[in-house]
Amino acid sequence: MIKVENLTKRYAGQPAIRDLNFEVGKGEIMGFLGPNGAGKSTTMRILSSFMPPTSGRASIAGFDVFEQSLQARAHLGYMPENVPLYNDMRVTEYLDYRAALKGVPHRRVAERVGDVKELCGLKEVEKKIIGALSKGFRQRVGLADALVHEPDLLILDEPTSGLDPNQIRQVRDLIKNLGKQHTILLSTHILPEVEMTCSRVIIINRGRIEACDTPENLLGRIRTAGGVIVEAKIGSDDGAEELRKIAGVRDVTESVDGDWRIFALRVEANTDVREEVYRLASARRWTLRELSQRKATLEDVFVEITHPDEV
Ligand SMILES: Nc1ncnc2c1ncn2[C@@H]1O[C@H](COP(=O)(O)OP(=O)(O)OP(=O)(O)O)[C@@H](O)[C@H]1O
Ligand SMILES: [Mg+2]
Repeated sequence: MIKVENLTKRYAGQPAIRDLNFEVGKGEIMGFLGPNGAGKSTTMRILSSFMPPTSGRASIAGFDVFEQSLQARAHLGYMPENVPLYNDMRVTEYLDYRAALKGVPHRRVAERVGDVKELCGLKEVEKKIIGALSKGFRQRVGLADALVHEPDLLILDEPTSGLDPNQIRQVRDLIKNLGKQHTILLSTHILPEVEMTCSRVIIINRGRIEACDTPENLLGRIRTAGGVIVEAKIGSDDGAEELRKIAGVRDVTESVDGDWRIFALRVEANTDVREEVYRLASARRWTLRELSQRKATLEDVFVEITHPDEV
């Protein structure tokens, strides 16, 4: 559905993305992750024909996003990072206008706009002026706009940015639902969201693709398996020093809560150090109140790939 080949974009000579290659198959929900400035929005803007690449090619449903941009865009619903809305229009009026602009036949506009308002939970605000909507509802209008011409591909640039946790859940559920019938390329900073919704993930850093795989495979690839939390009363022992000696422990950080010490251990992949920690605590007569394992998450993958020095 999306094919990107050797895509490069420079702004005033400075590369924003360099030599990107990836494909998104029909029906996939692809997560697009990367730190600020990594090049996510740049890539998405090129795919949406908003600007040309410096070199390389991209196509949507087989249509070159530059040479055949009309055909490419007919397949694509794009929700940009900052949704540009007409603040003095009412919600329905705006969506009618956008539908007409995107070539929805006149006789079908009312039906399509009705459907996307329903889908995006906009019924209750349909008569409101867009400028008076809360951020969450503005995002939904942006999503409805992206969907109104029935594209089979959605490119969503941080659709949940600026939303509260309840709204994030709602939008996440909506995206999951949309994923049943659409191909989706989704950028976000909220990693649990990606773990829950995406079939594959691209991690981009400083304009380059560092990884492209399923969340499970990415988790299997990293050096840390997550961590173990130990909370204990340890008297005058140097707990961190003792814990560091355990095989498989890569690093220990320590904090204090009254008489208790809280140790966060980072451990190597495929190791479980809890038994050894228990033995140590028992031998040293430490009082344990917590000994628990935290499995690696996509966040660990992200940190390890994009900030390898800090791991
Ligand atoms: N219009 C522009 N002119 C000059 N440089 C730009 C422009 N847009 C983006 N850049 C630069 O290109 C690089 C990639 O930016 P981009 O917006 O694609 O990152 P991003 O991954 O979307 O980041 P964020 O997570 O902050 O949205 C950055 O270094 C940015 O400063
Ligand atoms: Mg961006």
